[in-house]
Amino acid sequence: MVESRIAIVGGTGPEGLGLAMRFAKTGNMVFIGSRSEERAAEAVAKVKAKLPEADVFGGLNSEGAERADFIFVTVPSDAHHDTLLGLEEVIGEKIVVDVVVPMLFDKDGPKAVTLDEGSAALQAHSLLPKAKVISGFHHLDGSELQKIDKPLQGDVIVVGDHKPSKKKVLDLVEQIEYVRGLDGGGLANSRYLEEFTVQLLQINRIYKAHAGVRITGI
Ligand SMILES: NC(=O)c1ccc[n+]([C@@H]2O[C@H](COP(=O)([O-])OP(=O)(O)OC[C@H]3O[C@@H](n4cnc5c(N)ncnc54)[C@H](OP(=O)(O)O)[C@@H]3O)[C@@H](O)[C@H]2O)c1
Repeated sequence: MVESRIAIVGGTGPEGLGLAMRFAKTGNMVFIGSRSEERAAEAVAKVKAKLPEADVFGGLNSEGAERADFIFVTVPSDAHHDTLLGLEEVIGEKIVVDVVVPMLFDKDGPKAVTLDEGSAALQAHSLLPKAKVISGFHHLDGSELQKIDKPLQGDVIVVGDHKPSKKKVLDLVEQIEYVRGLDGGGLANSRYLEEFTVQLLQINRIYKAHAGVRITGI
């Protein structure tokens, strides 16, 4: 396995932390990004508590984006635009993996939010024109990702227009035990991945579960 350098922007939340743990477990260098050095250090300690040998660091989001080859984005959707705008220069031509779901919670539960660009990943593409933006991992639950000894079931559908980068991200997906990566086509399809997450959250509310997605017949 080729070890990768992975930064997680907004890596102190459940989703970013879960991805950090899974990627650290398979020997990658993982940098947990935050707006606060202190919160990043706390998140690193949580990873180290489960994986004492992990090659994991923490600090400001910009430092992670500078040091890594893959930059995962796991901030809340209302912080997506401004966070990426502030990282454009340091990200440059790197691979960005956008995990953000544009949504809000109201009295009826989760609801998708429509962005002018069509999706969070398409917004990332317009803000970071030089970067290779890939979209995926939306259907893996953060709390399940953090149970690092529990195999996860499900597929991760990955979309993007830069095929070599999409292949590299699919290779990262396959590092997560029992999870399968599937190529879902171009970045324009990111809207379907993001919106389906809202449906999945509704199902999880009804069944009190942390279910994922499995595509059959392939
Ligand atoms: N949770 C899940 O299971 C799950 C599953 C699939 C997809 N997602 C998507 O992944 C993203 C992260 O989910 P999450 O539940 O981990 O989110 P979260 O806990 O709400 O936020 C993640 C981190 O983002 C940073 N952040 C918060 N507000 C910010 C702001 N205004 N500007 C910049 N950074 C800010 C915080 O880190 P610092 O305070 O340390 O900077 C926070 O710990 C969301 O877009 C969500 O839709 C989540």
